[in-house]
Amino acid sequence: MLKKIKTEDLVLGMYFSGFEAAWLDHPFWKNKFLLKSDSELRQAHASGIPYCWIDTERGLDVDEADDGGDGGDELPAQDEASVVPELPDLPPGPDIDTTLMDAVALRETAKKATKAMFSEARLGKALDMERCVTVVEEIAGAVLQSPNGTLSVLRLKMADEYTYLHSVAVCALMVALGRTLGLDENACREAGLGGFLHDVGKAFLSHELLNKPGKLTDEEFSQVKKHPELGYKYLSLDPNVPDYARDVCLHHHEKMDGNGYPDALRSGQISLYARMAAICDVYDALTSDRPYKRAWDPAEAISSMASWNGHFDRAMFLAFVKTLGIYPVGSIVKLESGRTGFVIRQNAQDLTRPVLKVFRYNDNMEMSDTEILDLMATPEADTIVARGGEEWARLSHLDTMQLLSTGTPA
Ligand SMILES: [Fe+2]
Ligand SMILES: [Fe+2]
Repeated sequence: MLKKIKTEDLVLGMYFSGFEAAWLDHPFWKNKFLLKSDSELRQAHASGIPYCWIDTERGLDVDEADDGGDGGDELPAQDEASVVPELPDLPPGPDIDTTLMDAVALRETAKKATKAMFSEARLGKALDMERCVTVVEEIAGAVLQSPNGTLSVLRLKMADEYTYLHSVAVCALMVALGRTLGLDENACREAGLGGFLHDVGKAFLSHELLNKPGKLTDEEFSQVKKHPELGYKYLSLDPNVPDYARDVCLHHHEKMDGNGYPDALRSGQISLYARMAAICDVYDALTSDRPYKRAWDPAEAISSMASWNGHFDRAMFLAFVKTLGIYPVGSIVKLESGRTGFVIRQNAQDLTRPVLKVFRYNDNMEMSDTEILDLMATPEADTIVARGGEEWARLSHLDTMQLLSTGTPA
């Protein structure tokens, strides 16, 4: 039975069945689920949405003894709803470190699947659509469960893993951006599939060309620019590949001002998923190590992309920033206290106040004074004064997984 209660009265063990708000405005991917982790509960309480619905048949009710009737869809009296029922014996929800470990495992599985897809394409074998759909489902599931942790782990890659993990990361970013744009789950998965397949045409380019450490010659660049058409041609051989996925493959390098390739399409001529892919693709490329450049700080990448007039769909780019934050997870920031902060989580209510792992470091890159600082909960504790800039380059060799975890580094 559905019952409307105050959001502040939600407790673990209740079956959450939706907020009294548009889906886009609330912090959860799913509209209905059993509340079993502290982080979900905290997110709900911090949502600022006054009322929500619970299903009392699938989870805990507010205190039955004090509930003078079935309540139905009616708002219970304040004292009834504020009684905290005894908690059931539930398994603990995933904490950030568990999420990271899950994301690392997913990264490995997805990398293998992508590697297989590329080598099969190279050998002229048909695409294994079933495997692609399964991988995309898994990535989408992880993104919806824990967008920050999943996206930050999937962004990490060694230069030689780029071709494969880039497809995985773009898939995940597409799902996350789709969610911010208010697409339904099915459409988010479609966008994810488009992202996963977008660069399959690179399977037909040589390893040397794709991994050349220096600047490409004009001739080499025109070879690389053929990958959207090569991919489209390959995907068109299989009638099971949906049109939208072929379109993302063909048009992810188009620009809003008509200066992209291969068809020099302009704004409205570019499909929704292809416009999404253009943003996710560039962001992942900028924030990855490549043979010819170091990865950029995620916050630097966001800031630079914001200044590229005519490249991206402006409204969609703003949704992308809303998805990742002004200081995306993995960014380095400088604090007023002189300490350095590594962004480990966003606060959806204020993108300028993320949760940081704060530390000092010496010339030997040994960290000290490490603590977790939530700039939203304790704004007086410190303030971000700048993006990491050159500090990112110095610190990016540190064990990012260690920085992302909430544990204190050894
Ligand atoms: Fe591409
Ligand atoms: Fe790409």
